[in-house]
Amino acid sequence: MTPGHTTRLPLSADQLDTPSARSALHQAAEILRSGGTVAFPTETVYGLGANALQADAVAGIFAAKQRPSWDPLIVHIADMAMLATVASHLPQPSQSAEQALQRLMDAFWPGPLTLLLPKSAAIPDSVTAGRPLVAVRMPAHPIARALLVAAGLPIAAPSANRFGHTSPTTAQHVLDDLDGRIDLLLDGGPAWQGVESTVVEVQPHSLVVYRPGAIAIEDLERVAGPVTLYRPSPDHSSQGPSGHPLSTPPESLPSPGVGIRHYAPNARLVLVDVQSQPLPEAHRLWLAKVGEHAANAARLGVMLPAGWPLPTAFSGLRYEWGPWGNDRELAARLFAGLRHLEDHGADCIVCPLPSATGLGLAMEDRLLKAARAE
Ligand code: TXA
Ligand code: MG
Repeated sequence: MTPGHTTRLPLSADQLDTPSARSALHQAAEILRSGGTVAFPTETVYGLGANALQADAVAGIFAAKQRPSWDPLIVHIADMAMLATVASHLPQPSQSAEQALQRLMDAFWPGPLTLLLPKSAAIPDSVTAGRPLVAVRMPAHPIARALLVAAGLPIAAPSANRFGHTSPTTAQHVLDDLDGRIDLLLDGGPAWQGVESTVVEVQPHSLVVYRPGAIAIEDLERVAGPVTLYRPSPDHSSQGPSGHPLSTPPESLPSPGVGIRHYAPNARLVLVDVQSQPLPEAHRLWLAKVGEHAANAARLGVMLPAGWPLPTAFSGLRYEWGPWGNDRELAARLFAGLRHLEDHGADCIVCPLPSATGLGLAMEDRLLKAARAE
């Protein structure tokens, strides 16, 4: 990492053959090959990349993000040849699991699906936080793909935010968190989907989803059979032999990201549970909650679905979120909205909770984690 300076290079996903785009990709690839850090757009959110095969390079990611060493990283690959470098063998717990894995790769790669696979010896232990499985995904975004090809390396890349903060969906979000802490930023405009990949482990009798994401559980089920959504108990504690709760630190969860406050804006986040409510009732609950917090917050911000009411004389900040029920649009604008309200000084944000189906499940997951107490 070159302390104090981050170079920002613009390029466009549909014009990667221009001299300036080629030069940007070449510079980024050189930095990755020499052990530096490069932020780049993916179809989900911006990632912060480093050479996944080099422990010192990967250490730069943890340092820049201030990410604890127990939280492992996703390795991004360009193609199936790269998969053979990062995964030692495809798991064969049973023929049906093997078939499910193959069907998932065929259906969703390239795309926002992350699979947990046995790691190869080439992947440093720091990438997986000492675990035997490595998280792998083949991104679909043309800039991410071009960067992987130009570097000729698998790229370890978590979301390009400070640890625990709201994920970045634009280049400016990346700079807001990491300017001067990373070497290069490829600015390819807003990420498309706005929520991260779905993290899945194929087990003998079901697919276990550790993080719901941009590929809906319903679609996984359609392609590869039954899905179990892993849920730690609310305070990620479990009952000990004496019946007392045992606190489970996140590092001992099967996927550490499931158990922590995360995605959080620098403001208190209040969720309004309007799930499965008809609209008039949803509006009533919403107005009551906004009214209650308008009285308490110094500067209230609201994530406002199109056409939803606000109390008369509402003087807080509003982010026009999008049409309620259009989960594609709401997901694409979720993190941007939280960051917008935070940047404009909200100390409290009120947000309605989308229903937990399709992409709504990923939004619910992010919002519940962001609203957790420290
Ligand atoms: O869409 C995405 O997945 C984005 C883009 C940049 O690709 N990346 C991303 O990475 O969201 P990150 O680091 O912010 O989230 C990775 C999640 C974490 O919850 C982590 O705990 C889990 O995946 N994870 C990573 N490696 C794992 C492993 N070996 N075993 C279990 N969980 C793992
Ligand atoms: Mg993240």
